[in-house]
This record gives sequence, C-alpha cells and structure tokens, in this order.
Amino acid sequence: MFNNETNSMMGNGQMESNNSIDIINNSQVQNKLKLPQLLESDQETSTDVFYTITTQSGTTAFKDGSLTETYGYNGSYLGPIIRIHKGQNVHLTTINKLKENTSFHWHGLKIPSNVDGGPHSPIKPNGTATVDFTVMQEAATLWFHPHPEGRTGEQVYNGLAGLIYVEDENSDSLDLPKDYGMNDFPIIVQDRFFDEDNQFNYQDIRNVDGTQGDTLLVNGTINPYIEVKNEQIRLRLVNGSNARNYQFNLSSKEKFYQIASDGGFLNEPVQMDTLQLVPGERAEIVVDLSDYKNGTIVQLMDGNAEVLSIKVVEEINSEVGSLPKTLNAISNDFDKVSVPDKKITFSGMGNMVAINGKQFDMDRMDLQAKTGTTEIWEINNLNDMMGGMIHPFHLHGVQFKVLDRNGKITPANEQGWKDTIALYPGEKVQIEVEFSKKGIFMYHCHILEHEDNGMMGQIIVE
Ligand code: C2O
Ligand code: CU
Ligand code: CU
Repeated sequence: MFNNETNSMMGNGQMESNNSIDIINNSQVQNKLKLPQLLESDQETSTDVFYTITTQSGTTAFKDGSLTETYGYNGSYLGPIIRIHKGQNVHLTTINKLKENTSFHWHGLKIPSNVDGGPHSPIKPNGTATVDFTVMQEAATLWFHPHPEGRTGEQVYNGLAGLIYVEDENSDSLDLPKDYGMNDFPIIVQDRFFDEDNQFNYQDIRNVDGTQGDTLLVNGTINPYIEVKNEQIRLRLVNGSNARNYQFNLSSKEKFYQIASDGGFLNEPVQMDTLQLVPGERAEIVVDLSDYKNGTIVQLMDGNAEVLSIKVVEEINSEVGSLPKTLNAISNDFDKVSVPDKKITFSGMGNMVAINGKQFDMDRMDLQAKTGTTEIWEINNLNDMMGGMIHPFHLHGVQFKVLDRNGKITPANEQGWKDTIALYPGEKVQIEVEFSKKGIFMYHCHILEHEDNGMMGQIIVE
C-alpha cells in the first residue's frame, strides 16, 4: 500500500549527532501545546493579500517563577503562521520594534533576493520595509526568521521565528488531516537554557560550535501535550533550534509516515521509524492513531527524550481511511554528470569555520549563475583534523533536489524538494538546483553560530 522501504536512518546509514548537552526533563507538569495564531490579513482581494509583521521584545511565561525576556513576531515569543496560496500576490509590511537591526528572511520561498531578507537587507530600530512577491511554488511548510549579519543566532534564540504555510490546489484537494489544532499541528522544536532567574542569557551560554540548551520547547511550550481523536494526525515538524539535531521517533516504536520534505509533498508517503532533522529542516509526518483506545498516550520522542505527549481523548467510529498513495509528481530522472558546475567545501570548527577556505564577506561574490539555468553542485564536508560535525547546508531562494549522497542513492524521504540538508563528516552530496530568481543569495551552514562566524557564502544570479 505504501512505499515498503522503511527508512530507519538518514544519509548512508549514518546516525551521528552534534548534540553535546543532554535534555533534562525539569518539570512533571504538562502544559497544553501553545498554537501559533494563523495571521489575519490586513486586506485581501481575489489576487492579493496584505499582512503586517512586527518584531518586538517582551516577556514570556515558560515556567514558574520569573518571566523570561524574549523576542517575538506580533507577540512575545515566536510568531504567527502566514498562510499564502500559489499564484497569490503577497504584500508584507515588516516593522522592527527592537532596539537593534534585524531582517526578515523567508526560508524556503522562491523569491528574488531584494525581498529575501538576507544580511543585505537590515531594518533599523523603528524601521519598516515592504516585501512584495508572487507565490511561485507548490504547497509546503516554510519558515521565517531574522538574518542580520553576525546576529542571527542570538535573535533566533531570543524567539524570532515563525511559519509560512504555502497552499495550492494539490494541498487543498489531498485527503490529508488539515484541521488546524485538531489533527494538523505546527511543531516548532527548540532547546533552551534557563538560568536561575528563568532568563536565556544567550551571550553567556553562546557556543561557537552551536548553542544548545537542556530544555526542549515545542512552540514555546515546556512539556507539551495535545488532545486528539483516534484518527490520523499530521505534525509539521520544524527544527527551529540554533544547533541541535533531532532523531524523532514514537514511544510506541510504531512507524509513521513522512509526507513532505522542506519544499513540498513527497511523491508518496514514506514509512519511517526514525526521522532526523537538522537545524532549519522541516518534515511533515502523519501518525495513525486509529487503533488506539480512548485514554492512550503516545509520545513523540527525540531519541530518549520526550518532545510531545499525544493523548487520545475521543474515540470515533468513522472509518479512518488510508493515506493517499500519490501526493506529488516530482521527477527524479537526473542526467548523469561527471563534472559538477560548482564545488562547495565546508571545513573547520568554532571561529575557524569556512566555505571553500573563506569566511563570509558581504562585499565579495563567491559564485555566479544565470537565471533559467540548472546546475549540479557538489557539497563536501571536509572531515579535517578539527573533527567531524554534521553541518546543515542551506541555500536561499530555491528548492533543490538531492542527486546522491556519497555516490549512493538518496534516501526515500529526501527524494523531494529540499532547501536544507545534513552534511555528514567526510560526506559528498550532489544536488541539482535551478536558478529562477535574480539577485544575491546566501548559502550557509544552518548551525546559526557557524553562520554568524562566517560559514556563509553568496552567489550572484544574473
Ligand atoms: Cu534559515 Cu539563511 O536561513
Ligand atoms: Cu534561508
Ligand atoms: Cu556548521
């Protein structure tokens, strides 16, 4: 019925982790999962939609005791979901109410670089900018976050991140769970440290190789639970952490189905028992609860740590159908190439991180491409003396395909649109990317401290 292949591991059976700080379960109290609001438009016509998004500082109640000083979009922590449709003309008014520069980057959107919100587009305190684009891509769960030069790690850690749901005719018509907050949930997973006064103190705990925490948060909720019916539920997993990798699995050890990767639906559901997501990556999964009795609890886990309690609180008798067999029609016929168009090499650790031996320089263009061309990139993670880490490779303004990993066939759950991929130590990955938008686009490691330390380059597309 489904793709029989079970992916228990990513890459070439590699299951490595950069995580050095253990997750602790620091409270027995469970909290109802916070759900971001679906952002209301300021105005909408049959062709256009207008939204306003404001960065602000505030305080957030995560746990007993003091409130935590945080950043958020239209609120004190994280942000709303911006829902847009393929073909729509989108107009975003972005406002910065912080006391420092920020930028609004739309991670995964195929848009020109003048609206992409990278480090070339800072917005000053009390500044505002409008962003206009047409949605030219298929349904997907994307996200947005700040990208100011050298300050991305701290601003994201303080709370700046939100979701973008792109919808299209396919997502509207597919028979999948889609009742927001009922059987379709955004799951933004992050890790944080709280000091004895419940503050984040990013500068004190900042790690040059990726800042981690010992407490998991989902949508800003510690020890979260959801209450659902015994039906199929859809979890839109977003790794919104600065540096932590997650190995998602179910406490029941049952399998689940991955239905989407970063940039849209997979061609068919892929049965999984473990799913790794590196920082910046997303995946949509469906968990089938139809065999569960009222009162059953199953946990979404990260390795052995609890991420989310899923509680069945209502039994319904209606037939739970199977998942659609076909979700998308992505062609995976690739031309064999012997010489890649571009070669990218990640190397080093800490303050020595580099791409092709260089650290980020706003005034230097590292690569060039022409609009309308498709290129093959070979991306290497040099397993040098400094040791082996997974680096999440991310490229702006596009969705790409993974051709192979170390010459081996791409795992089934990565045979879809991607904008962020894990690069294992010593690994060589080939991707196929089409450049359709003009401008200057970043590619970088999505460990945010590596990005801030200069593990970033830029390509000019003309
Ligand atoms: Cu998610 Cu350049 O970023
Ligand atoms: Cu991005
Ligand atoms: Cu890195």
